[in-house]
Amino acid sequence: MRAAYVTEPSPADPLSAIRVGELDTPAVPDGWVRVDVRAGALNMHDLWTLRGVTRHPRTGPHVLGSDAAGVAGGRDVVVYPVLPTTDEQSGEQAGGRAVAHATLLPDAGHGVFAEHIAVPAGHVVPRPAHLDWAEAASLPTAWLTAYRMLFTKAALAPGQVVLVQGAGGGVATAAVSLAVAAGATVIVTSRSEQKRERALALGATAALDTGARTPAPADVVIETVGTATFEHSTRSTRVGGTIVVCGGTSGFTASLDLTRLFAREITVHGSTMGSLTEFRALLDFVAEHRLRPVVDSTVGLADVSTQAARMLSGAAFGKLCVRVA
Ligand SMILES: NC(=O)c1ccc[n+]([C@@H]2O[C@H](COP(=O)([O-])OP(=O)(O)OC[C@H]3O[C@@H](n4cnc5c(N)ncnc54)[C@H](OP(=O)(O)O)[C@@H]3O)[C@@H](O)[C@H]2O)c1
Repeated sequence: MRAAYVTEPSPADPLSAIRVGELDTPAVPDGWVRVDVRAGALNMHDLWTLRGVTRHPRTGPHVLGSDAAGVAGGRDVVVYPVLPTTDEQSGEQAGGRAVAHATLLPDAGHGVFAEHIAVPAGHVVPRPAHLDWAEAASLPTAWLTAYRMLFTKAALAPGQVVLVQGAGGGVATAAVSLAVAAGATVIVTSRSEQKRERALALGATAALDTGARTPAPADVVIETVGTATFEHSTRSTRVGGTIVVCGGTSGFTASLDLTRLFAREITVHGSTMGSLTEFRALLDFVAEHRLRPVVDSTVGLADVSTQAARMLSGAAFGKLCVRVA
C-alpha cells in the first residue's frame, strides 16, 4: 500500500525527511478494524515527527498523520486519533475532563497517511453526512482540541465574548466556527489582512491586527500562538475570564504579569486533544449546525511535502489536507 512516512527524522530540514512509497498493509488485531483511508489532514505534530521531537515507537518506516476519514466495514467514518490510556479512560469516567498523557495514533506506530490502517473498533465514528472527505478528515485533532478548549475547559455560554489568537490556524478556524455556532461573539487577531477578512466571513464580529486592543474584554481566550500573543491574551481577558492554552506556534515561553492574573481572577487552563465522548459530541455538534471545516487546500498523497511546507510557512488558512484514495 502507498503511505507517507519518515525513516530518519531531520531536526534542521524536516521536509527532507518525508518519504512516500510502498509499505506492508498493517495487520488487524482482535478488536480492531481496517479503515480504507480516503483523506487525511496535517498537523504541527507531523512536523515535530519529521524533526524527531515526538516519540518513535520503533525503528524503520514511521507512518505520518493523526487525522483520517475513510471507509470501515462499508461505513463512512472519521477516526478518533487518541489511543486509550489509563488516564484517557479515567477521563471518560470523570465526564471527559482529563486526557493527560494522550498518545496519538502515529506515536504508537499507527499513523494514518496510508491507504489502509488498523485502529481500535471503538475509534471509528460515522462521518457527518454533509462533509466531504477532506472536511471530515479535518475534524480529529484541530476541531476536537478547539471543542474541548471552548466547551469543557472554558464552559462557553451563549452571549460570551471569545478572543481567538492567530486566526488562520487549524485550531483557530475551528474555534471561530464552533464559538459562533454556540452563540458567542468572536474576536480574532491575525497578522494578515487576508486572514482577518476570512475570519469575518466565518462569523467573527471583529478582526484585529495581532496585539491590537480588543473592542470588549474577553470571557474566553483561545491561545494557540504562545510567545507572540500570550501577554495580549492576559491584557484582553475580563475579570473572572478564562484563557485556554493548547500550543505555542510562535514559541512556548511567555512572561506573565501576576498582578493581572490575581487582580482580575483570571483562570489559565492547559488543554490537549479530547476524549472519545467529546469527539462524538463534536461530530454531533458539527452535524446539528451543519458546520464545514475550513480546508486551505488538498493535494495527493505524493505531494504531502507541499502541505508540510505550507504549514511551516504560516500562510495557510484552515486545514492542509491530503487525498489518499
Ligand atoms: N495540545 C493539543 O492537543 C494540540 C492540538 C492541535 C494543535 N496544537 C498546537 O496548537 C498550535 C496551533 O496549531 P494549528 O495547527 O492550529 O495552527 P498553526 O498552523 O500552528 O498556526 C497558528 C497561528 O499562529 C500564528 N502565528 C504563528 N507565528 C506567529 C507570530 N510570530 N506572531 C503572531 N502569530 C503567529 C498564525 O496566525 P496569523 O498568521 O493569523 O497571524 C497562525 O495562523 C500548535 O502549536 C500546535 O502544535 C495542540
